[in-house]
Amino acid sequence: MEKETNAAVFASGGGSNFQALIDKKDEGKLHVNFAVLIGNNSKAKAFERARNHSIPTLHIAPGHFEDENEYTEKLLSELESRNIDLIVLAGYMKMIPRAMIQKYHNRIINIHPALLPSFGGVGMYGKRVHQAVLDYGAKVSGITVHFVDEEYDRGPIILQETAEVLDDDTAETLAERVLKIEHANYWRAVEAFAQGTIRVEGRKVIGKI
Ligand code: GRF
Repeated sequence: MEKETNAAVFASGGGSNFQALIDKKDEGKLHVNFAVLIGNNSKAKAFERARNHSIPTLHIAPGHFEDENEYTEKLLSELESRNIDLIVLAGYMKMIPRAMIQKYHNRIINIHPALLPSFGGVGMYGKRVHQAVLDYGAKVSGITVHFVDEEYDRGPIILQETAEVLDDDTAETLAERVLKIEHANYWRAVEAFAQGTIRVEGRKVIGKI
């Protein structure tokens, strides 16, 4: 049997997407080993979720280190020692060091709560994304799962799904609708990576999801 993909999940907050991935694994639909949860805030609910499922945790915050190099080295050595194949960002609010992006080229996946390239980039996170969608008057929003490159929210797109924007939506109601779509779909991209059914050609991700 081939070796199961070793995934490190990075999360800063509630980790509901992390939970949805754990649930898909428990249902037998997602075939990855969650080798570690890494987060900058040990009080985040994501840590509790990891502990509940006996997933090792690491609390690593940029502020714990003298400089960015030390921080980067710590992350890289932890990932290397666990033979990590795939990094899954699940609401991770800290910068991913450039050296890590380069080393794990097309092996870091992120989920964004809108249809990129709209409503993404620096400062576009959480409720701000949904408020921007509403303020613009967009009729459709959705989710984007993509590989991470050196620029925020720009890497090759693995999958997108749409969400309706309703006339009476608030940022909260839209966020709730979009989050459900995230939970229902993030695992599909992770599984496609794990099964090796997708490949990256330039900006395009080709293959079966
Ligand atoms: C999600 O909306 C995701 O798209 C974004 O951060 C949020 C994380 O939510 N990257 P949760 O912590 O998974 O509940």
